[in-house]
Amino acid sequence: MSTIVSLRGVKKQFNGFEALRGVNLDVESGEIVVVLGPSGAGKSTMLRTINYLIQPDDGEVFFEGQNLSTVTPGELRRIRAKIGFVFQHFNLFSHLNALDNVAIGRVKVKGESWDDARKEAMKYLEKVGMANKAYNYPSQLSGGQKQRVAIARALAMEPDVLLFDEPTSALDPSLVGEVLKVMKNLALEGRTMIVVTHEMGFAKSVATRIVYMENGIVVEESSPQQFFTFPESNEARNFISSILERI
Ligand SMILES: Nc1ncnc2c1ncn2[C@@H]1O[C@H](COP(=O)(O)OP(=O)(O)OP(=O)(O)O)[C@@H](O)[C@H]1O
Ligand SMILES: [Mg+2]
Repeated sequence: MSTIVSLRGVKKQFNGFEALRGVNLDVESGEIVVVLGPSGAGKSTMLRTINYLIQPDDGEVFFEGQNLSTVTPGELRRIRAKIGFVFQHFNLFSHLNALDNVAIGRVKVKGESWDDARKEAMKYLEKVGMANKAYNYPSQLSGGQKQRVAIARALAMEPDVLLFDEPTSALDPSLVGEVLKVMKNLALEGRTMIVVTHEMGFAKSVATRIVYMENGIVVEESSPQQFFTFPESNEARNFISSILERI
């Protein structure tokens, strides 16, 4: 196994507020890390430091052994192409159909022709069960379908790691399952994934490790079995009982 992502003492302030207060995290190839924690814990901020969408004020981010603070802008672009990011709000181009939304990254970043990129893109749409909607524009897709296209778009770049930031929390509850199913299949393929989610069923059954964050730090890291049955920290215990109260 090799280390894909390594955060060392990562800190980030926004207008004097410490969103990250020294985050340490290592993610090995093939791991499915689910990040849990209350709103404002710093989960999205942490995820965005991994591809340097957010640059830390202090600490270091390593991607496959490279310290991102020392790479050139060109190297950073190449590294970012290896990091697939799936957002809560899909961020598809509204003027492109599903196929071209998936193909465009290969054209712009990998320099492929549109013809070749579309051929590859179709394979990824098939993978997420969306080939039959390849020529629909985002406005002609449901939320779950849009998110599956967004996942295909990330996969089309052949990334080494996939980052998900609450990929199902903007969806109608009836559409959550189809997206989680695609994510489960990716996990079964052995892809490296870091997933911020409130889907506890997914966390329990798919994660190889739970990372629990609160107030800008990682409070606890453990296996799902350990986390959901014998959480070590008071913070995680309170978090789990607050969830149990809601169901
Ligand atoms: N661009 C920004 N400017 C100012 N404050 C920010 C910014 N981004 C995040 N914050 C603050 O940093 C803290 C952590 O935010 P973050 O979005 O990382 O939390 P989160 O754990 O993802 O929460 P949620 O579960 O609600 O998505 C919050 O208090 C938030 O208000
Ligand atoms: Mg967030």
